[in-house]
Amino acid sequence: MKDLTPRRESLDPIEIASIDEIRSLQLERMKWSLRHAYDNVPMYKKRFDEKGVHPDDLRSLADLAKFPFTYKDDLRANYPFGLFAVPREEIVRIHASSGTTGKPTVVGYSKNDIDMWSDMVARSMRASGTKPGDIAHIAYGYGLFTGGLGAHYGAERLGCSVVPVSGGMTERQVTLIEDFKPKTIMVTPSYMLNILEQYGKAGIDPRQSSLEVGIFGAEPWTNSMRTEVEAAFDMHAVDIYGLSEILGPGVANECVETKDGLHVWEDHFYPEIIDPETSEVLPDGEMGELVFTTITKEGLPMVRYRTRDLTRLLPGTARSMRRMEKITGRSDDMIILRGVNVFPTQIEEQVLSISQLAPYFQIELTCQGRMDAMEVRVEASPDASSATEREMSTRNLTKKIKDVVGISTKVSVGDPGSVERSQGKARRVIDYRPKE
Ligand code: DLL
Repeated sequence: MKDLTPRRESLDPIEIASIDEIRSLQLERMKWSLRHAYDNVPMYKKRFDEKGVHPDDLRSLADLAKFPFTYKDDLRANYPFGLFAVPREEIVRIHASSGTTGKPTVVGYSKNDIDMWSDMVARSMRASGTKPGDIAHIAYGYGLFTGGLGAHYGAERLGCSVVPVSGGMTERQVTLIEDFKPKTIMVTPSYMLNILEQYGKAGIDPRQSSLEVGIFGAEPWTNSMRTEVEAAFDMHAVDIYGLSEILGPGVANECVETKDGLHVWEDHFYPEIIDPETSEVLPDGEMGELVFTTITKEGLPMVRYRTRDLTRLLPGTARSMRRMEKITGRSDDMIILRGVNVFPTQIEEQVLSISQLAPYFQIELTCQGRMDAMEVRVEASPDASSATEREMSTRNLTKKIKDVVGISTKVSVGDPGSVERSQGKARRVIDYRPKE
């Protein structure tokens, strides 16, 4: 793999500024943001008043802990535009979550917000090793999902030639990569595996492709997956994080030179880690729920938004800003099986450690009597699909999950191609247990 470390002169000065400088900028911006939310969004005024806090009470960054949290349900309760802090006419873009349960959550951006978003994605791409003039193939979905358009504007801002392919039509993805020869691909990691499989079907060696860097996010993925994809394509695989309520892609990104967690772009988003049970703020280094406060956003300011994503904050390395460790999972995705907490990422690691298995899997949860049961459905890799090989990999995976994750599961190793393929965010867990 090529060394793609960006030149230091090409970075935004704040990325490598002193911590003091960053903290003082954050304090100034946070004061503005809390006042903006309080003055323009009735929900924030009501919440702050109820808690007996006022934007003027923020004298240091630690004072943020006095302010109330914001939850996904608050967006639903104020559907569609109730949390916008600028007149609707000043909102130039609206995105929304698919809303599998209940109403979708709607987010809005002012012109300056779109500008900042483009800058943050451009910064993220540069950190990933993309350079102005590179061709960027964007296979995140375009539409109400923030992935496609968010990546697109950032790639244009950086100065790339952008190919807005969107998700799906996997054969065509491969053709376009082979014909246009992009250096960068932006896509969910699970859909990248789908593209990889298509290379195999087309009989093309992915290591010979033009791709030098993949910027993967929108769902949890592990370092084992990184190793797998980097080896398959002979390219760098870098993590990008974001969520619609805060921005979309570009809240945090790994640096290609270190790949040691995602630097949070702290000049726009202030992170906290809290204990999800007690809501108490935890010191850096401790694992908990990630909470974000936007400090420059105009259209939809968010005060202490509970992401439900679990990670920890670590000091900066390649940049001064703090890193967040790769996300273990969302608290909503945590499976509690007979008292043991399990995340799909832990299963992913074990699946990927067995070379006779393909990197696709799904978890099925059922209720057997009064006990919950879990089945991991995987598939044999095409070159190890004989009955004996499958039997061995079934035993091997069952044992690894038992030894490393600590739970007994049923493992079924199906034919190559038998597990559902992802077109965007993978559906890792299918829950057949009766709803309460
Ligand atoms: O997934 C925004 C995005 C698009 C990020 C493209 C990166 C790339 P939502 O659909 O609102 O927004 O989903 C946000 O996805 O709270 C996490 O649970 C999960 N997620 C996003 N990025 C990562 C990541 C977009 N790098 C939710 N690792 C978040 C783990 C991620 N989970």
